[in-house]
Amino acid sequence: MSDNKVNITDPVSGKSLDLPVHTGSCGDPVLDISKLHKELGYFTYDPGFSVTASCSSEITFIDGDQGILRYRGYPIEQLANHSSFIEVAYLLLYGDLPAPAEFRKFEHDITRHTMVHDKLNTFLKGFRYDSHPMAIMSGVVASLAGFYHDDFDIKDAEERDLTAKRLIAKMPTIAAAAYRHHVGWPTAYPRNSLNYTERFLDMMFSVPAEPYKINPVAARALDLLFILHADHEQNASTSTVRLVASTGANPYACISAGIAALWGPAHGGANEAVLDMLNEIGSVEHVGKFIAKAKDKNDPFRLMGFGHRVYKNFDPRAQLIRSACHDVLDDLGIKDPLLDLAMELEKIALEDDYFIERKLYPNVDFYSGIIYKALNIPTSMFTAMFAIARTSGWVAQWLEQSAQGGRIGRPRQLYTGVAERDYLPIDKR
Ligand code: ACO
Repeated sequence: MSDNKVNITDPVSGKSLDLPVHTGSCGDPVLDISKLHKELGYFTYDPGFSVTASCSSEITFIDGDQGILRYRGYPIEQLANHSSFIEVAYLLLYGDLPAPAEFRKFEHDITRHTMVHDKLNTFLKGFRYDSHPMAIMSGVVASLAGFYHDDFDIKDAEERDLTAKRLIAKMPTIAAAAYRHHVGWPTAYPRNSLNYTERFLDMMFSVPAEPYKINPVAARALDLLFILHADHEQNASTSTVRLVASTGANPYACISAGIAALWGPAHGGANEAVLDMLNEIGSVEHVGKFIAKAKDKNDPFRLMGFGHRVYKNFDPRAQLIRSACHDVLDDLGIKDPLLDLAMELEKIALEDDYFIERKLYPNVDFYSGIIYKALNIPTSMFTAMFAIARTSGWVAQWLEQSAQGGRIGRPRQLYTGVAERDYLPIDKR
């Protein structure tokens, strides 16, 4: 925070007002407009919240112009190269990297909460077999509120901590169960002798009929993707979680709302859309036609996995995933023509004035689907994978907000409807 002020004068009333300027530890300063309406009678207008800081947070920092992403101050590149998803989850939740004993306890606690109530499985099995996994996940996670409601006290820090761990622990179990429901396999119970990512692979792919061997390359690649997707400050789904949480709602309902927001193709659903798009393009000679469609203002088509609200230079996660993509495919001995197609699409788009002028670069979702595909994860599960990882960020942000307290989120609007009119009985209309 700082004592700087920006003075504004309303030319209509002649009144002026000092707006305090708050400076965080990094990033652009923010103007505090909380007195604006009371003093000058104006609301602000910022559709899509492009320039609005909705909260203060100590968790994640992004500099979109420089392509910087840090969790709790640690550059994403360092975490990607040296950490594990569970360690990153601890970091997001508690603010520091764990000491060995802290890590062991956290991993033990997460492992202990991986099972779900058997009635939850019954509920899950009520979904149509072809339901989208994100529909199942948002429904099933919201229903957890029914399992952990009566005894939940949001003001109790220990209970909040337990809820955070339950959510991180159970999300892979629920995601894998959603997949198995779709393919008609019996639900797999979590094997607690495995680590977080291996356990998820086992719950996805093991069958009672024969042993399933976890490929360490696949487990490490998945862990990396989980690290890169873990948090991303006040994105659409996280803001949704915070907004719902501001009403005091049950945390499972808050996270379910985050899952619903993530599902959209403009957000987490883009990873699924990228693969659909690459399949539709089919081969390198069709790339030009799809680039032209993306540039055509009369065509709603957009290059999926391209562009970002905040990153206007490069998405550091996309760079890490692109290089991991090559390594994983090499290690697994897979030659995927979709990777060549994706690289060609990226090359052509990055040389095109339309994309250069609008600062449109590949985002985190552009290459992640090719890795998921190499790990045999079906396209319909891609956004569910994102949700597993992002749960750590959602609960960290929910914990921060719950500890801060604060007011209910309640934006205002610019009303453009009919000003006033009188009711006419139906026979007079
Ligand atoms: N393909 C073609 N044109 C694009 C694309 C794209 N992928 N993205 C943006 N544009 C164009 C817009 O048409 C607009 O052009 P104009 O100025 O001529 O009207 C300009 O670039 C700015 O676009 P906006 O929609 O204003 O950008 P915004 O910040 O609102 O949207 C978003 C960002 C939603 C990510 C957008 O780039 C998009 O739809 N991308 C494709 C979907 C996607 O990959 N989403 C994943 C994002 S990352 C994540 O959530 C994990």
